[in-house]
Amino acid sequence: MAPSSDFGTDTGRRAASGWPYKLTGRLRGKWALPLAFSLAGALMAMTVTAVASTSSSGAPPGGSRAVRAHWNQEEGNGAVLVRQGKQTFRLDTFGDESFWGGTLHLNQTIAGASNGGIGPGLSPAAALALGLKVDVDALPESVQQGIVNGTVNLNDPATTLALLKLNAVVGVKGFFDSNGNLNSVGIECALCHSTVDNSLAPGIGHRLDGWANRDLNVGAIVAFAPNLQPIATLLHTDVATVDNVLNAWGPGKFDAALLLDGKGFQPDGSSAATLIPPAFGLAGINLHTYTGWGSIPYWNAFVAVLEMHGHGTFFDPRLDNAAQFPIAAENHFGHVVANPDLVTSKLPGLQAYELSLRAPAPPPGSFDPAAAARGKVLFDGPAECSTCHVPPIFTQPGWNLVPPGAIGIDSFEADRSPTHMYRTTPLAGLWSHQKGGFYHDGRFPTLLSVVEHYNQVFHLNLTPAEENDLVQYLLSI
Ligand code: HEC
Ligand code: HEC
Repeated sequence: MAPSSDFGTDTGRRAASGWPYKLTGRLRGKWALPLAFSLAGALMAMTVTAVASTSSSGAPPGGSRAVRAHWNQEEGNGAVLVRQGKQTFRLDTFGDESFWGGTLHLNQTIAGASNGGIGPGLSPAAALALGLKVDVDALPESVQQGIVNGTVNLNDPATTLALLKLNAVVGVKGFFDSNGNLNSVGIECALCHSTVDNSLAPGIGHRLDGWANRDLNVGAIVAFAPNLQPIATLLHTDVATVDNVLNAWGPGKFDAALLLDGKGFQPDGSSAATLIPPAFGLAGINLHTYTGWGSIPYWNAFVAVLEMHGHGTFFDPRLDNAAQFPIAAENHFGHVVANPDLVTSKLPGLQAYELSLRAPAPPPGSFDPAAAARGKVLFDGPAECSTCHVPPIFTQPGWNLVPPGAIGIDSFEADRSPTHMYRTTPLAGLWSHQKGGFYHDGRFPTLLSVVEHYNQVFHLNLTPAEENDLVQYLLSI
């Protein structure tokens, strides 16, 4: 595929809209994706407009006027924003289908040759095995019954298309032409930051927003796309290497820095990907991400534009540092201006929604209360945990970054961030994301191994019984 043919119209549009940076020339043949304008994007904007105008305010949709109008509502600032944000978090692709479908052609391998695409297609069974989740509330009663009694064929890619038409695949949106063919596909925040409660069947249930989907094999899903050449070109490598890097991620992981610095592996040869964190329990916390890139709205703009490849404006001159971020600096990822901008007007709602998501309480019986009570005394006292993990937010109120040496680990991932630090992880809801391990790259398989690490690094002299008490406390918060 010649990427320039994909973006012919886009670059024309951008030039016409007075592009302020000298990057269209370089991007035209390569990676204009975060900026590309498309008809699908325009349709997306109309959809969002429709959503916004059904809100109670009747205010003009989109942009700051709408936000200001909402803030004046009797209902209160929060409620309307939270409702908008929920919609965005669950259903908005920010126009990123121009990348996942338009450039990588992921829609073709999902559909399969028998449905107008290529290859065997992606059956619901295979999709579930990749960790994708199905929202039971989007399924008509008859489909739910068919799944339970086996009359819905979960081995047929055509069923996947039917699920996409129902908007039932969490975090994935299908775009269909008038013949019912899947002509594009986009992703939403919920892909990685929601899962389901398995109420109908494994992988099929009610949405649990904010929960990290630790079953989701993002790398394998991206690698399933037929055209990885644009990623290889961007990274100055070949498709086989991109394939290797993606397939090394494994379930529950994603590498948000890959397209900035091109680093696929840690010095010891393990994958450079990080665990998908929860998007709940974040209220009151200053810096976000494992390495403290910025605030929630900072990171949401970053992700929507640079990772999901939605159409939005994003600034971060820190990415001009070519020594640290060679790929980002070369492509001016810190200076992205999109017109139309399908991201910025949604940042207030997204932030409000994320702040509204509380960490889920541990299920009764999932920890030993007496041991947890003893563990709390250790956590707040002799084990020194609360010097960094300050309850009830479990990170430092204020500046919540520490140098790698302070927690006795290497600086590889910290050095991939402008901060060169690690952010003290908020701990509420730990019980819900034990799969995949702990610390940014999952290096500690269990909470006990985390506590053993601290016991050693901080010379705490905790007995095995005390270590267990701490673990029980961690499971209770
Ligand atoms: C492909 C998977 C994926 C998608 C899609 C995704 N994220 Fe994330 N998200 C991650 C990963 C991985 C991290 C950790 C990044 C890091 O720390 O380096 C993260 C981090 C975060 C954090 C920081 C959490 C904390 O503990 O500070 C927030 C907030 C967040 N994402 C929100 C969003 C929103 C909102 C969207 C949609 C605009 C989104 N994410 C889309 C994978 C994803
Ligand atoms: C010097 C500050 C500091 C102290 C003291 C500290 N932590 Fe941490 N903690 C961190 C940082 C920073 C991280 C993130 C590390 C990473 O992701 O690589 C972290 C991560 C964790 C995690 C992993 C969370 C996750 O989701 O991956 C757990 C569990 C944890 N700490 C528990 C404890 C316990 C228990 C103690 C006391 C024995 C303790 N911490 C003491 C700073 C601290």
